[in-house]
Amino acid sequence: MPSKLTKAALALSVALGLSVSSNVAHADEHKVLKVGCEAAFAPFTYIDDKGELIGFDLDLIRAMGKVMGYDEVKITALPFDGLIPAILTDNIDLIISGFTISPERANKVDFSDPYYMCGLTFLVNKSNEDKLKKISDLDGKDICLQIGTTGALYAQKALKNANLKQFNSPPDTYLELQNGGCVAAINDRPVNDFFLKNYKGKDIVSKTITTENSEYYGIAVNKGNDELLGKINKALLEVKKSGEFKNISMKWFGRDISEDFK
Ligand code: ARG
Repeated sequence: MPSKLTKAALALSVALGLSVSSNVAHADEHKVLKVGCEAAFAPFTYIDDKGELIGFDLDLIRAMGKVMGYDEVKITALPFDGLIPAILTDNIDLIISGFTISPERANKVDFSDPYYMCGLTFLVNKSNEDKLKKISDLDGKDICLQIGTTGALYAQKALKNANLKQFNSPPDTYLELQNGGCVAAINDRPVNDFFLKNYKGKDIVSKTITTENSEYYGIAVNKGNDELLGKINKALLEVKKSGEFKNISMKWFGRDISEDFK
């Protein structure tokens, strides 16, 4: 039987040994930033023909991850209404997904400084263009939306008598519109615009609902994660200063979107 003293010495050396090896482990730790997005939201977060996750938001967070000292930015595609739950359970560190800063969400997560400004539009079939010009024209009709979005919330308030059909992503709303399952698809303006730009047909047109400056996209982290939030805001400033933000913006929008607001 070892004496009490030897036991204590053993315990101490184990503790020391452990702390030494954990320091070493810390030094070569592969630092991963776990990012969550919903990946059918072109041009912000989507999957290209080769199966790669691409878009403005993903270029931005990859650039910011580097600035923040991460070795890897691991992007996970999730359902849109699964993004906040994934943050709350620490499965991801942050959400970047054309995610609007809103008071409802700010009860559950903390938001970074805004990086993009936009508003809502709706798409209609050309045959209905004269009948469906403004948001009130949509009341009492079948309307397509993405579940859990600010557009869906807006429609619930503005269209008391409409039949709101909720889909997992904007592309599903476009299909339903084309198939005649609804008369309008409400989504964020740049997303509807991107669809129209790449759409081969001429039978769909866009109408504005809210002004450009009614929504701002931000990066969401767990409530109270001030350390990460501070790093994010600092990295956002740094990529703006270095010109990287502008380069990414030029690539996706052909202009510097940080000029839209200060
Ligand atoms: N900006 C809107 C919102 O935050 C729509 C976002 C949808 N994003 C997405 N990746 N599907 O509710």
